[in-house]
Order: sequence, then C-alpha cells, then structure tokens
Amino acid sequence: MSTAAHESAPFGAVFAEKFSMSRWDGESFEEPHLEPVGPLPIHPAAHVLHYSSSVFEGLKAHRGTGGDLRLFRLDRHIERMQQSARLLCLPAPDAELLEKMIISVVLDARDAIPEPPGSLYLRPTLIGTEANVGAAAAPSKQALLYVLGSPVGDYFSGGIRPLKVVVEEHRPRSTPTFGMAKTGANYAAALGLIMEAKHTHAADQVLFAPGGDVQETGAANFILLDDDRVLTKPLDPSFLPGVTRDSVLVIARDLGYEVVEADFTIDEMLRFVERGEAALSGTAAVLAGVGTILHDGQEHRVGSGEVGPNTLRLRAALTALQTGSVPDIHGWIRTI
Ligand SMILES: Cc1ncc(COP(=O)(O)O)c(C=O)c1O
Repeated sequence: MSTAAHESAPFGAVFAEKFSMSRWDGESFEEPHLEPVGPLPIHPAAHVLHYSSSVFEGLKAHRGTGGDLRLFRLDRHIERMQQSARLLCLPAPDAELLEKMIISVVLDARDAIPEPPGSLYLRPTLIGTEANVGAAAAPSKQALLYVLGSPVGDYFSGGIRPLKVVVEEHRPRSTPTFGMAKTGANYAAALGLIMEAKHTHAADQVLFAPGGDVQETGAANFILLDDDRVLTKPLDPSFLPGVTRDSVLVIARDLGYEVVEADFTIDEMLRFVERGEAALSGTAAVLAGVGTILHDGQEHRVGSGEVGPNTLRLRAALTALQTGSVPDIHGWIRTI
C-alpha cells in the first residue's frame, strides 16, 4: 500500500494491510493475532447486528520528528474503551491485551504511516457475536475484539478552514447516561439530524444543545476560547469525555489561559463568539475552528469568521507534542 493513497481517499477509507483480532468465548480473550484486512465471517443472527452491542475507540500514532512512532494517550483511550464496554455489557478487555494489539498493528503498518500532519488512525472495535436473535435482553455470550489501522490526513476536507455548525436545541445526540459511551448507536441516532443540517444548510456538523445546554457536536467536543480563557462544558455522562478535550485544557493551562469548565447556554455562547472563538476538539478533527454558528435560522459569525489565532495556537501546541517537536512533559506519548 502506498503512503499517498490516504491523500486521495476520504478519512478512514484506506486501511493498513493487517489488523489484529482476538475472540472472546464467554470466559476469556484468546491470544491475539494479525490477519490481512478483509471481510469478517459473522453469523446473520450476531448480537451486534440486531442489538447494537458494539463499542470502539479512535486514537492516533504519529511519525515523530526523529523517525520514532508515537502513540498519543494510549492509556486514556484504553480506559475509555473499557468504560464503553462495561456500559454496553460487553467484556472489557485487559489494558495489556488491548495495548499489545494496538502496538502490533502500528508496528506492522510502520512503513505506511504518513508523515505529519498525517498519521495512522487506530480503531479498536469490540462487538457481540453470539448468534441469538432471542438475546434482546441478554448480553452476548461471545465477542470479537479487533484493531484496524488507517493511514489518514485531514478529517475535514479542505484542510484548515472555518467550519459551519448548526445548533440543535430540541433533539439530543444521545441519552443523559449513554453519551459517554463510544458506541455506534449514538452515531446512528445523530445521523439523520446531521444529514439534514448538511443538506439544508451546507453545514459541517451539528452542535447538540438539548434544552439550551451546549454539549458537543456529532463527532467532537466543543470549546469556546479567546486570548485569556478556554471555556467548555464540565464532564458528565451525557457526552463523550474527549481525550483531545482533556489534552487541550491541560495545554491551555500550561500556556497561561484560564480554563473554565462550566455549563453555558446558547445565548451565552452566541454572545461569546461575537468577539471570541469556537472550536471542535477530537482525535480526528484535532482542533478545528468554527467560523459560523447557525441558530434558529440565523447565521452568527464567530469572531472574524476565520479560524481564530488562539485555536491555531492551541492546535499547533497539541500537534507539536504529538509529533515530538516539543518535549512530552506530561508523559502522554508511548514511543514504539
Ligand atoms: C461524539 C464525540 N465527541 C467527542 C469526541 C472527541 O473525543 P477524542 O478527543 O477522545 O477523540 C469524539 C471522537 O473523536 C466523538 O465521536
């Protein structure tokens, strides 16, 4: 596979040659092994196909400035995968097992990992495979864990450009307790609204703010920022505890910003962005600036309408850490 294939394909549609897999037989996970990426034999009655017993993660391995391979916040992603698995009543894999599987995929794909700003996006996935359509109210007694690698460039087509988000204040993305799970059902539930926003308003994403509580977008967390402050919603089970969100808050503190984790309303957000900036944070999106917020049929320009200087500054500080052009003072990098 050439390292350039990812540049012409959509994010996540090109794969490393091999993936790692391990089956769970109801008691334990088997020793993982690498296989060429290809279709999975799965029973048509598999639990996941009917009752959505699936969880996943998304993390990146970067090629460092010194040629090393660098996994970003591996421990955090593994912990979140375990938490998602518990919420979906799937077997939570041991950290050592998942770590071993992720590292084996990175090592196997080492020649296919693009230079920065590209990276190898890793997708650990866990699905219920028991063949039993009667198990609607029972956990799957069998499961499959696998880790896919995908050489990637930019998540949003067009590189760094200001995004347009549509505020959705009536319908939630997930539920008050399941938002914290990285499970396919949440994305399926939000998809109709996102498609509506794309078709009707040429929007890039939907910003979910049920009952006026600004939470997150369909695939990234949401932050407000200006020259002095970074403001975002405090963690609660209604939305995904982003690893990028956490990293940006730590980096912002390091750079002298005041970090405020507090709930805010749509009106407060719209007042803030008259002068301030707004950004989406996520492994795939990194830190993507918002240029326009559409609410109640009205377009609100965010600051100058371009990606703001503080967004670019924090994004650059994060990617510098990921690729090793500054020291890893927080111990976030697993070098392999
Ligand atoms: C719904 C949702 N929120 C937030 C995030 C950000 O999480 P992280 O920064 O861990 O990638 C993601 C994934 O990228 C997501 O899918």
